[in-house]
Amino acid sequence: MIGRLNHVAIAVPDLEAAAAQYRGALGATVGAPQAEPDHGVTVVFIDLPNTKIELLQPLGEASPILGFLEKNPSGGIHHLCYEVDDILAARDHLRASGARILGNGEPKPGAHGKPVLFLHPKDFNGCLVELEQA
Ligand code: CO
Repeated sequence: MIGRLNHVAIAVPDLEAAAAQYRGALGATVGAPQAEPDHGVTVVFIDLPNTKIELLQPLGEASPILGFLEKNPSGGIHHLCYEVDDILAARDHLRASGARILGNGEPKPGAHGKPVLFLHPKDFNGCLVELEQA
């Protein structure tokens, strides 16, 4: 069911510094910061030949990554995003298999304007999984 790895997301305490490091030290193609108030994050995408890296910085008091950065003050891998062809079919299949969908279970537009859902990390080996309809 899952397809390509769309991106690996890294929560960072300082988005500007992290973007500069990827641009400079790692020589990557780094996009412009993008505020996503619906998700409580500001993101920067880094294009790699085979996937993307999503740098995440908290946006607002209710940001879902504030707790993560409290536990991991220097940052850390936050989630993996897999592509699916049909996000509602994927959600229903996962629910039937016993996996928990975060939030109200309805897809929201993600960073690329495409519908996304998140799956409970406890159901996936401690790894938060994002699904994005490709
Ligand atoms: Co993501």
